[in-house]
Amino acid sequence: MRVESVSPDAADLRAGVSALVVGAVVRREALGLDQPPSQTEYGLYLDELLDDAVHGDAGLMAARDREGMVVGTAQWQRSSYPARRVLAELDRVVVAPSMRGQGVGHSCVEAVAADASAHGVEVLMLTVRGNNHGAIAMYESCEFERTGLIPNAVADGDARHDIVLMCRELTRPDGVRLLSSIPEGTGASLGR
Ligand SMILES: CC(C)(COP(=O)(O)OP(=O)(O)OC[C@H]1O[C@@H](n2cnc3c(N)ncnc32)[C@H](O)[C@@H]1OP(=O)(O)O)[C@@H](O)C(=O)NCCC(=O)NCCS
Repeated sequence: MRVESVSPDAADLRAGVSALVVGAVVRREALGLDQPPSQTEYGLYLDELLDDAVHGDAGLMAARDREGMVVGTAQWQRSSYPARRVLAELDRVVVAPSMRGQGVGHSCVEAVAADASAHGVEVLMLTVRGNNHGAIAMYESCEFERTGLIPNAVADGDARHDIVLMCRELTRPDGVRLLSSIPEGTGASLGR
């Protein structure tokens, strides 16, 4: 198995990624998509993502098995807020059901982390449905930490689930000052 970055003209990889994601939504796996998109609709979405990738603001990874079939995928996208250009979201992590439990998801996430870091991303975040314990365990195995939770904010019919927020620190450049929540710098204010 090998993981590679998908370029806009890699039609076979793009089709493989689309099939994986659409298949996951059809199985009602938790990717944040209610209705399965058609391959054409997902292709148009990938056009936009890969356009961002060309500008260094996103990346799409595909894992292939020995026969060249796409069996895993993950992507990242930089925050659209200019002041948060060091933040990106990891999303759409899917592994073919027959290939789960063999390290494919882990490899796709690590490839995303490396690519995002190479593009200046310092913090990778994700949200995951609170009931998706397998995915949360996989992200923890990739050095993500739970940093927050929005209670019962996912609606699935009459069911409500938590949104779990997870983050991973990537490389910080020399000289940055990690002020966390200290009331200093632009936008700071003091409480009464
Ligand atoms: C979540 C998903 C991507 C994991 O992919 P995977 O290839 O099976 O995961 P890996 O084999 O790389 O797992 C790496 C580590 O994560 C942990 N892990 C993965 N799945 C787990 C599970 N179901 N239960 C507990 N731990 C798990 C283990 O520590 C594992 O290492 P180990 O096998 O050496 O113990 C896959 O199950 C999937 O596609 N799920 C459906 C889509 C989905 O929910 N995506 C996440 C949306 S936020």
